[in-house]
Amino acid sequence: MTDRSHSADVLVIGSGIAGLSLALRLAPHARIAVVTKGPLKEGATFYAQGGISAVLDKSDSIASHIEDTLNTGAGLCNPDIVRFTVERGRECIQWLVDQGVAFTRETRADGTNDYHLTQEGGHSHRRVIHAADATGRAVETTLEQLVRRHPNITLFEQHIAVDLITAAKLGRAPQRCLGAYVLNRGSGHVEAFSARCVVLATGGAGKVYLYTSNPDVATGDGIAMAWRAGCRVANMEFVQFHPTCLYHPKAKSFLITEAVRGEGGRLLLPDGTPFMHKFDPRGELAPRDIVARAIDHEMKRLGAPCVYLDISHQPAEFIRSHFPTVYARCLEFGFDMTKEPLPVVPAAHYTCGGVMTDRYGHSDIAGLYAVGEVAHTGLHGANRMASNSLLECVVFAASASRDIEQHLAQAPLPGELPPWDDSRVTDSDEEVVVAHNWDELRRFMWDYVGIVRTTKRLQRAQRRVDLLLHEISEYYANFRVTNDLIELRNLALVADLILRSALARKESRGLHYTLDHPQPDQSRPPADTILVPEAYEVRPEAAHAGA
Ligand code: FAD
Ligand code: SIN
Repeated sequence: MTDRSHSADVLVIGSGIAGLSLALRLAPHARIAVVTKGPLKEGATFYAQGGISAVLDKSDSIASHIEDTLNTGAGLCNPDIVRFTVERGRECIQWLVDQGVAFTRETRADGTNDYHLTQEGGHSHRRVIHAADATGRAVETTLEQLVRRHPNITLFEQHIAVDLITAAKLGRAPQRCLGAYVLNRGSGHVEAFSARCVVLATGGAGKVYLYTSNPDVATGDGIAMAWRAGCRVANMEFVQFHPTCLYHPKAKSFLITEAVRGEGGRLLLPDGTPFMHKFDPRGELAPRDIVARAIDHEMKRLGAPCVYLDISHQPAEFIRSHFPTVYARCLEFGFDMTKEPLPVVPAAHYTCGGVMTDRYGHSDIAGLYAVGEVAHTGLHGANRMASNSLLECVVFAASASRDIEQHLAQAPLPGELPPWDDSRVTDSDEEVVVAHNWDELRRFMWDYVGIVRTTKRLQRAQRRVDLLLHEISEYYANFRVTNDLIELRNLALVADLILRSALARKESRGLHYTLDHPQPDQSRPPADTILVPEAYEVRPEAAHAGA
């Protein structure tokens, strides 16, 4: 291998909880390369606050967690996948504990000491295990330490995957994923990574919207790469808006965890009136789609820039110890949550749709897996229940790693791949085009494809996306790739997939609410929106088994 080509048994793209837990589980059996576009920690996982849902309390049950997930998913969850996930919750939490994640403990009234469980929207029990209000930080930093010292794991930070390399793209048969082209952001060169198996663990696509709780790396790259390679994607219209992000011009939509509502926080209008009871009997703990829509409704009705979240009735020490991160961050912006309500607004938070996979993380292409937020497993349906995402990441990382381990010996090593050809492109002389298109895209997605939609607004956005896609593809054909261009190209494609899915759904369901069809369609059974790319090939069963 040269410095422009690399080889591994398994190439993992992404270093959040999905990518790192899969890498760690496989590392005793295989040589792993982990490619990640920023510093290793940067991803949604690091910022996760509330926790991870799992049935850990004696009074709780698998049946109840399943029922809550199905109810929140508004008729579109795959019940087999929900059961598969929920049943594996406890053992996956134990795996995290075994790796060293220090979840918050409490001494109960009867003197026993156990993990503290909090409650969030849609859950009928306390079942969210957490590390204060910085669960993701505890998980990510623990896993980071382990991968950094594992001899079978090689880390490539500041490396952004540009596209997957498949047999079909090279004119070879049978179709299989062979690796990926990856831009080394340090050298500016695109390098070829070959592997027996490739795992997309690239997270979600919140950055397609102007206001989002997501970090900058969440640009839907994995979904876009898989689509271009020929994988189907499902349910992209279901973008989850988190109801409560701090309303402050410099706060970059900082999340105020739903656990604040779980511990008694009330949502208030600017004049101090509670309002959630008017929208749902579960009040502040109704599923997120309902709470976000209620806030949107009240803000529009009153012309208010935000609503308020108040937990100041709880003792100050309780607030500071349960929510140390949120408390400190809000204080930096001048808000003392022990004394006053916090101004909050909804922001794009989670991509429920993604690359279609089965319970082992298999995508439509042999040798290509997708795990974590990038994937559509069928767990979340039309609306993800709070704290079910980290659970999905660890459960599917475990099942995919087991499947890869079993089939690795039969999976061929592709050998040297053709180098990236940039002989016909030059350095861009118009970086401003990229910056401008980024801005425009995220703004019209926010304005036209947000919490409440109409067909007219979706069509308006679709016309703009069509134009942008055309411009970006010309630009991409002529200029050398940069990080921003790669992300813009992916964001525009993801916006297109969201719009096509939203326009195809002629009903309101879960997170997709349109004034033109305000009710669920009762005339037929609920169905996923499945988009099929031109490059799609039906995957032969044999290839599937030998992934
Ligand atoms: P991520 O953690 O997002 O990691 C993706 C990785 O892929 C990153 O390392 C990124 O750099 C890398 N990457 C992306 N594209 C490329 C590319 N082209 N090339 C190379 N690398 C790439 N869920 C819960 O269940 N409980 C919570 O309490 C919770 N709180 C949240 C709070 C916040 C603020 C946010 C934003 C989300 C929260 N979520 C929560 C959702 C949850 O955190 C995410 O769904 C989950 O962490 C996704 O993990 P992941 O490993 O799939 O992706
Ligand atoms: C939160 O802490 O409110 C986020 C939980 C989640 O997104 O699951």
